[in-house]
Order: sequence, then structure tokens, then C-alpha cells
Amino acid sequence: MFSMNLILLGPPGAGKGTQAKIIMDKYGIPQISTGDMLREAVAKGTELGKKAKKYMTEGKLVPDEIVIGIVKERLKQKDCEKGFILDGFPRTLAQAEALDRIMGEMGKKIDAVINVNVPEEEVVKRIAYRRTCKNCGAIYHLIYNPPKRPGICDKCGGELYQREDDKEETVRERYRVYKKNTEPLIEYYKKKGILFDVDGTKDIEGVKREVLDILSKLSHP
Ligand code: AP5
Ligand code: MG
Ligand code: ZN
Repeated sequence: MFSMNLILLGPPGAGKGTQAKIIMDKYGIPQISTGDMLREAVAKGTELGKKAKKYMTEGKLVPDEIVIGIVKERLKQKDCEKGFILDGFPRTLAQAEALDRIMGEMGKKIDAVINVNVPEEEVVKRIAYRRTCKNCGAIYHLIYNPPKRPGICDKCGGELYQREDDKEETVRERYRVYKKNTEPLIEYYKKKGILFDVDGTKDIEGVKREVLDILSKLSHP
């Protein structure tokens, strides 16, 4: 059966969430964002949220075993049968290896890893002006992708807010963490022959075109 099991790789602010939502709308497969799931747990004050909060506020990675556990459970859900988009996972070699094991146990494989490249200064600019909907998670940018009415989500009317980890010094720390822990995954997936590079410095439409072009080749080889 045709499946589309995808990973979106890239630094903070690369546009992983933005592109994941575009793919989700086009192909009807769910976005699995570990960042979104962790933020929800923090907001609800669950046990998981209490454990994750300190790491996230400091821009550090939440420990592997915690994140691997939540992804493993999520991938078992029925809506992942026809495919899924992992956004922000894996982020360490240990997570990538765990994902391979999980895929093996489920008789599945990752079909493509889309690597969105964006340099640090652009990351900082994008994140400083990002606003996110509290209700539906829609992502805006005050300059590049502004909401029609200030502070209000176009899609659902929800309130827009700025993420707690989006302060400049925390963003720079997240970028350092990306360089050290996550960037090595590019080589890991290149060796497997499933890595596709995308120029993330283009505008949202331009990146979207590159991404959808890659995906259409996957589905019609
Ligand atoms: P997470 O939520 O995953 O954050 P991140 O990786 O830092 O990435 P962002 O969500 O900040 O950026 P994005 O690439 O999604 O960009 P977006 O589309 O929003 O993780 C947060 C924290 O959770 C981590 O620090 C860690 O503590 C923890 N965590 C999560 N996963 C973990 C894991 N696997 N292991 C351990 N810990 C984990 O776009 C950014 C802005 O730019 C928006 O304003 C958007 O409108 C705009 N924009 C997007 N594309 C473009 C474009 N092409 N041109 C111009 N503007 C654009
Ligand atoms: Mg995101
Ligand atoms: Zn909304």
C-alpha cells in the first residue's frame, strides 16, 4: 500500500510547522509535532508537562526516553495508518535509532526526510515575529504572514500568543542545540538515501512548491 511517512528536519524557525500544516491539508495525513504535544502537556500541567517544562524554557532538549515514549504511542493511533509527518522528531541520534526500531516493529519505514535549510540570523528574525494560535495552533508571522485582524486567528478566531521559548537568547540556545545534536541526522538519513534538501530561505510559497514537488515524485515515481 502507498504510504507517506515523512520527517521534517531543520533548525528552530525553519518553517517545519508551517510546511507540515500545508502537507497535512494536501495529503490528509496528521502532523505529529513533539513540540506541540509537549507544550500542550505543560499547559495542562500533566506529569509529562511538569517534567518537560524546565528543559523547554531553557531551550534544551527534553530527555530522549520521554519524547520517544510519546511518539511511539502516537504512531500507533489509527490516523497514522496512511502516513504521518513527524515535525521536530527525531532530534538526536538516539531518537533516530529508536524511530527505526519502532518502524521495524510496526512493519513500516520512513519514506522521506525533508531537510529545511535556514541560517541562524534568519531564524532569529522569523521567530521574533512569530505568533501562534492558542486554540488551533495556526502559525503566523507579523510581517511575512500576518493575521487579518491583529492578535486574532484567521482560521478559528482564537487568541494569538508568543511562545515562552521565543526570546532571542533562548532561540540562539535552541539553534546551538540543533547544531550539536540534530544536524548530524542529515548525514544519518543521507546514508540511507532518503534525504531531500529544501531551500528554507525562500518565502512560504516558494518552500511549499519545493516540498510538494518532492512529495509528488514520491507518490508518482
Ligand atoms: P519545537 O516546537 O519543535 O520548536 P523548534 O524545533 O525550535 O521549531 P519551531 O517550532 O520554533 O520552528 P518551525 O520550524 O516549526 O517554524 P514555524 O513554521 O513555526 O520544540 C520546542 C521545544 O520542545 C524544544 O526546544 C525542546 O525543548 C522540546 N522538544 C520538542 N521536540 C523534541 C524532541 N524531539 N526531543 C527533545 N525535545 C524536544 O515558522 C517560524 C516563523 O517563521 C513563523 O512566524 C512562520 O510564519 C514564519 N515562516 C515560516 N516559513 C517561512 C518562510 N519560508 N519565509 C518567511 N517566514 C516563514
Ligand atoms: Mg514548530
Ligand atoms: Zn486558530
